Amino acid sequence: MSEDAAQYAVTPVTDPDAPLDVAAIRAQFPILERQVHGKPLVYFDTAASAQRPRAVIEAVSGFYETKNANIHRGVHLLSQEATDAYEGARTRIAKFINAPSRDELVFTRGTTESINLVAQAYLRPKLGPGDEIVVSRMEHHSNIVPWQMLCEQTGATLKVIPITDTGELDLDALDDLLTPNVKLLGIVHVSNALGTVNPVAEICALARERGIPVLVDGAQAAPHQRVDVQAIGCDFYCFSAHKMYGPTGIGALWAPMATLEAMEPYQGGGEMIRKVSFEGTEYAPPPGKFEAGTPNIAGAVGFGAAVDWLEGLGLDRVAAYEARLLAAGTEKLLTVPGLRIVGTAKRKAGVISFTLDGIHPHDIGTIIDHYGVAIRTGHHCAMPAIAHFNLPATARASLGVYNTVEEFDVLVDALNGVREMFG
Ligand code: ALA
Repeated sequence: MSEDAAQYAVTPVTDPDAPLDVAAIRAQFPILERQVHGKPLVYFDTAASAQRPRAVIEAVSGFYETKNANIHRGVHLLSQEATDAYEGARTRIAKFINAPSRDELVFTRGTTESINLVAQAYLRPKLGPGDEIVVSRMEHHSNIVPWQMLCEQTGATLKVIPITDTGELDLDALDDLLTPNVKLLGIVHVSNALGTVNPVAEICALARERGIPVLVDGAQAAPHQRVDVQAIGCDFYCFSAHKMYGPTGIGALWAPMATLEAMEPYQGGGEMIRKVSFEGTEYAPPPGKFEAGTPNIAGAVGFGAAVDWLEGLGLDRVAAYEARLLAAGTEKLLTVPGLRIVGTAKRKAGVISFTLDGIHPHDIGTIIDHYGVAIRTGHHCAMPAIAHFNLPATARASLGVYNTVEEFDVLVDALNGVREMFG
């Protein structure tokens, strides 16, 4: 473990079967001490953005307090230390997803930018009329709109895998859609709107048999379960730090080195070059080739601290705890009269989308905020997924490793209060 990792790691996993000490975890989140409208904060909006533990907050502020300088440029000590902190974070994040090489991990602004990068730098030069891109109906807009834009630019066509009424992929339709015309399949690992966990390894195997590359949107998976890009067998994996208890404005794209080397640069500028002259420019090797300009250095340091923190908890223990919480929370929510859960897949992660008969989700969210409960309401940036259920919006409680069963009692109490208000 690097010096930075050792500094920020917490409670090493000595017994992977031991339950998490959630009270001790909660104590690491300063924001959980605050009140909202005079009530203790109950934060059920981790799918939108997780809260940050002290380890991450202090890694970012510590960087600014002791190491801040630009990277890869200076001969002075601060620049070297800043470079080590940035590149050290890359090494640990690459390891976190079991990437074969740290140089295959490109820092981006987040999942959205990672997908746009693949669309423009990988796929655009290969695409023309008659070609197809396949995505599913449960994708976040970030895994729909970049492909729609690319289709407009190239004359290619976007095809859609339907979903079932439980919120699962129609795998027979997927099989039919993977024709020789398909140049890329984009699929979400865990749906942010429905909670469905997709069988991405099986899907990648199917696509690989047909020579179709697969991009996996891992934004909602990486914080909640162990991600192993080699076991998944994907061609691209995209994720965001802020869903993983890290800073906003930083995320990553993973792809094998041969793929990255063959790709066009995404943006031009400093940092992504080996040599520039007016006769022509030679690009830096990956990952630098895709990191034009001064990057979010402190963000990367915070991102590294976040994966260290998650590793300290143990991803298997996190997943086991959240699965228990999801089951208990679902049971409690179903006691609320008129509550319907949207997204009832067999394999689900900690996302519970729901409606209350006759009450608009925005009213639910606004009223329960006064009980101190933060949920998200709306289409969750996944309009087609929500529209499948003939709904304009849902209310959504999404879980983090700091949530407790008792907090579901507060949510249920608040929802019963909403019911009473609407008679
Ligand atoms: N994708 C984020 C969410 O699900 C913003 O809320």
